[in-house]
This record gives sequence, C-alpha cells and structure tokens, in this order.
Amino acid sequence: TNPANIRNFSIVAHIDHGKSTLADRLIQVTGGLTEREMKEQVLDNMELERERGITIKAQTVRLDYTARNGEKYVLNLIDTPGHVDFAYEVSRSLSACEGALLVVDAAQGVEAQTLANVYAAIEVDLEIVPVLNKIDLPAAEPDRVRAQIEDVIGIEAHDALEISAKTGLGIEDVLEAIVHRLPAPPAGDPDAPLKALLVDSWYDAYLGVICLVRIHEGTLKKGMRVRLMGTGANYNVDGVGVFRPTKINVDSLGPGEIGFLNASIKQVRDARVGDTITEEKRPTSSMLPGFKPAIPVVFCGLFPVDANDFEDLRDAVERLALNDASFSFEMETSAALGFGFRCGFLGLLHLEVIRERLEREYDVDLITTAPSVIYKIKMTDGEVIDLHNPADMPDPVRIDTIAEPWIKATILVPDEYLGGVLKLCEDRRGIQKELTYAGSRAMLVYELPLNEVVFDFYDRLKSVTKGYASFDYQFIEHREGDLVKMSILVNEEPVDALSMIVHRARAEMRGRGMCEKLKDLIPRHMFKIPIQAAIGGRVIARETLSALRKDVTAKCYGGDASRKRKLLDKQKAGKKKMRQFGRVEIPQEAFIAALKMD
Ligand code: GTP
Repeated sequence: TNPANIRNFSIVAHIDHGKSTLADRLIQVTGGLTEREMKEQVLDNMELERERGITIKAQTVRLDYTARNGEKYVLNLIDTPGHVDFAYEVSRSLSACEGALLVVDAAQGVEAQTLANVYAAIEVDLEIVPVLNKIDLPAAEPDRVRAQIEDVIGIEAHDALEISAKTGLGIEDVLEAIVHRLPAPPAGDPDAPLKALLVDSWYDAYLGVICLVRIHEGTLKKGMRVRLMGTGANYNVDGVGVFRPTKINVDSLGPGEIGFLNASIKQVRDARVGDTITEEKRPTSSMLPGFKPAIPVVFCGLFPVDANDFEDLRDAVERLALNDASFSFEMETSAALGFGFRCGFLGLLHLEVIRERLEREYDVDLITTAPSVIYKIKMTDGEVIDLHNPADMPDPVRIDTIAEPWIKATILVPDEYLGGVLKLCEDRRGIQKELTYAGSRAMLVYELPLNEVVFDFYDRLKSVTKGYASFDYQFIEHREGDLVKMSILVNEEPVDALSMIVHRARAEMRGRGMCEKLKDLIPRHMFKIPIQAAIGGRVIARETLSALRKDVTAKCYGGDASRKRKLLDKQKAGKKKMRQFGRVEIPQEAFIAALKMD
C-alpha cells in the first residue's frame, strides 16, 4: 500500500469511556466484523481483561476504508492498555502511530488517565483528534467537556466529534477524521535495507512468538532471514501477516505498514520490544530509538497454600512469564510459608491480575505477602543495595541510609470529596504540589512515597470518593527516609511473611492495626497467645489472644447431631489451610486479611 493511503492510529481514553466499544464499531463499519462477533468485544480478548473491563496487551487491527471522496485507505488501529500500571505499554503502542483519537466520555469529562495518556501521545508528537463519546446519554454535556479539554489538557477541541459508540452515531465521521485529520506515515523507500520496529511480542501456542512490527524502510517478506539488532540473533521469517482482526497472511509489508511476523522464536524475552529488525544479509545502518525496558516496581511473595502445589506454581509462573516480560520471579523460602516465589510487577493492578490468573487459569491457591517496593540501602561501607524483600534487610547497625521511591500522583475528584482525598494524602505522608479546578472537579497533584500507595491507596481513594476519583502516577525518584523494618511476632515467634518496611512515624499505628487484626483472625488456642509488633528488639504494639476454654461444639447445646457434625467437618476443612507457627496455627485467611491494611 502507498503510505499516503495508510493511517496508523491509537485510541486513548480513560477506563470505561468507551474505547473498546468504539474500536469494535470501527471494525464493524469497515466490514471486519459481523453483528454477532461484535457482541463478543474482540479487542479485549482475555477473559480477565473483559471481566475487569481493562485492556492489558495491545491488540492491533487493520481496517479497509473507502472514504467519501472515493479513495481507498488502510487504517491500522493499535489498541492501548487503559490502566495506570501499563503506562509504559501505552507509550510503546503510541510510538508506532502518527495520530490518536482522544475519547472522552461526554457525561464524565476528563479523568486522570485521559490526562496521562494524552500527554504520552503529545510526547511522541501524535496528531490528536478529540472525540466526545456517549452523546446519547441524557447527562452528556459536550460543550462543557469541550471547554474542559481545552482548559485542562490544553488542546484545541472546538472541532471535537460528537459520537455514540454504543448506538453507532457519528462513526463515519470518525473514519473521515482519521483519514483527513491524521497524517500519513512518512514515505519510506521500499527497496532500502529493512528497518522495522518491534512494537510488541507475545506467545502463541501454534506459531511461537508473534512479533508486532511497524515497517519504517524496506520490505519485510516471508522467507527472509532477519536480524534482531539488539540481541544480534538471526531468524527465518516463517510468516508475515496482518490482523483483520484474525491473523491473515500476506506476502510482504512495506514502509508505513503494521503487521506481524513469526519466526520460530522460542521466548518472548528473545523478541525484545523496541528492538530494530533488519535483513541479515543487507542490514540497515542504524537502529531505531528503542524503548526503556519495563521495570517491576512492586514486589511480593507468592506461596502455595498447599505445599504440594509448589511444582504446579512453578510451572504456572514460568508459563506466565513466557508471555509477560514485565513480570519477574525468583524462588524464595519463608520460614512461615515454605517454598514460593518473590515476584515483581509493574504495579498493584498488575499484581492482582497475575495473582488472579494463577489462581483461576492454573488452579493454585495462593498466599500473597505484603507488597513491597525497592529500597536503596546505603551501607556504612559505602555499598548500595537494592532491597525488595523485607526479609533480606541487613543488620541496622551496618546501614547508613535508606531511600524509598516517591511518585507524583495526579488525582481528579469532584469538589465534595476533596476534603477526604486531602486527608488521605496527608495521612500517607503526601506533599501537595498543586490544587487547581476544572469546572466542579479539583485536580490535585501530590508527591507520595510509593510504599504508602501500594498497600491500599486505591481502595481507600475509592471509598472516600464513592468511586468518583481518578488516579494516575509516575515514579519520580528515591528519597531518603526514616525507615525501619517492623516484625510481627506470634507467641514470641517472628512471622516472616508479615514483616514490612515502614516509616518510623507510621510504625506504631501500622503495628497496632496489624496486632488488632491478627487477634481477630487467629483462632484461640488452649493457651494465651501474645501478638506483638516490634522494631529490632523493641515491642511497639501488643495484643493478647486469650486462651480457649470451651469446646467449639458446646454452643450447639448437644441437641442437633447433624449440626455438630457439620461444624466439626468445617473445622477439619479449615485445618488444611492452616499454617503452623511453633505451637500456634494461623489460618491462610488471616494472612490475606492481615495484609490488607486500612
Ligand atoms: P477499557 O477497555 O477498560 O479501556 O474500557 P473502554 O474505554 O474500552 O470502555 P468500553 O468500551 O468497555 O465501554 C465502557 C462502558 O461504556 C460499556 O458498558 C459500554 O457499553 C458503555 N459505552 C461505550 N460507548 C457508549 C456510548 O456511546 N453510549 C453509552 N450510553 N454507553 C457507552
């Protein structure tokens, strides 16, 4: 295809503003989908993604469109993930495009991820067409939202399109705008040495690793021998194709085009996103600017509830990592929890998604330890250690300073909830940087320690704003802080899975909260059990679980035998999920519940 008739674009939006619905409509209108297939939202194709209404892996689809002027165009839509944890994948998808549709819910207005995503698009110089969606809703206020886009984002919005992805209203106008308002890709030389960007890669059970590529110069053909310039490895191209949205093989891809190649690459790690692909025997002289690798920022331990499931967990974790280069893992042993893995994630949502997939798709019950961030520890001898497991904390006498990661958070919230959000941020050691208004919404910018955010910041934010706040963040830097390791002792025995690194000023409160919780969560035993939080040897909080006197079945008054039986059975089932600590048994739920701080 002539590059002049190609348009490569993304849709950027806040979660739920209708990106997937619009994408499906575009596919449908251009003939790629029947009404029935349309129902099964094609672009969000992972079960979990659909359920949570989030997109994680970028999907791509090629559309054929004959414009009103009679010209035929090829439109490549690259989907972008919609969540804060995956900002990195967003910017990667965007760099394969020339333009983006900015979809804003006309009833809801601009939200935090709208901002983050549109700034990412502006950063890579994309042309942006604002689209006001859900115009069919009675609550839609297109004029207000138009003004808001101009005020808050600072881009021209008077010619924003008004559409309803749900009813199909205005979809043709979107296609015309893509053709006429977004630029064509630069006209590269199809005969030049191949230069293609590896935009994304994932594992396919039939074809091995699939590489999503954007051709800059030259022509990619089936049968070619290509080199991945970053790794230096060479491969035979077994197939070249495009997504419509199912995979269709084509003979070749030329400059400006987006498609895939498969080349019997075994692991996603070998097909590094951002790498430049060229021809082995006629390489291009320079590489394309790549991407920084995605770095895990949140860590936690994952342990099987049943120790016999360890091998299954290992299998599952390895398979997951095959397809998710931003997920890292290494073996870990815990005195409390046995064998498991220390895993790294892009953020809390990524953690939750992986945990759920492990439990659901691979059928292993898991215990998750408290999420931790990466601390930079400067030792008295000058050495600097990256610490992401509180269990590995060196002896405090050898520590000079500890630095923790800080983030810049942007929060948009309706006026009436502002007070609650301010309090939450202050409680979490936040430093207010900005407070501005956009209509009846406040936009807050705070600097916060990431360690205060990983616990339950989202949950708290949601509850203090009844779900009306939106939140986005970026890492800024490591800063020194007065941080200490807090241990939890049950019956004088430290429970390693519950130890955490906290700010000294917050330690007592956290410790007290943890002890109180555990007191309710650990079943009573025949003896008294002290539950303590300690920093070094100093106890900072303590609760005592009193001894059990009566038989659990006593409250059944001996009358109903079947009820008694049931109670005993239930107790027995519960036993399997118990962990033994010295003489004390702690149920698995206690860990999960205790690790949810509030
Ligand atoms: P992510 O995949 O998480 O990024 O969300 P999304 O932006 O793709 O949102 P999605 O397309 O899944 O739409 C969210 C909800 O809004 C769904 O319930 C849609 O049916 C609904 N919706 C989308 N477009 C419209 C519209 O034009 N009008 C109305 N009334 N509802 C819409």
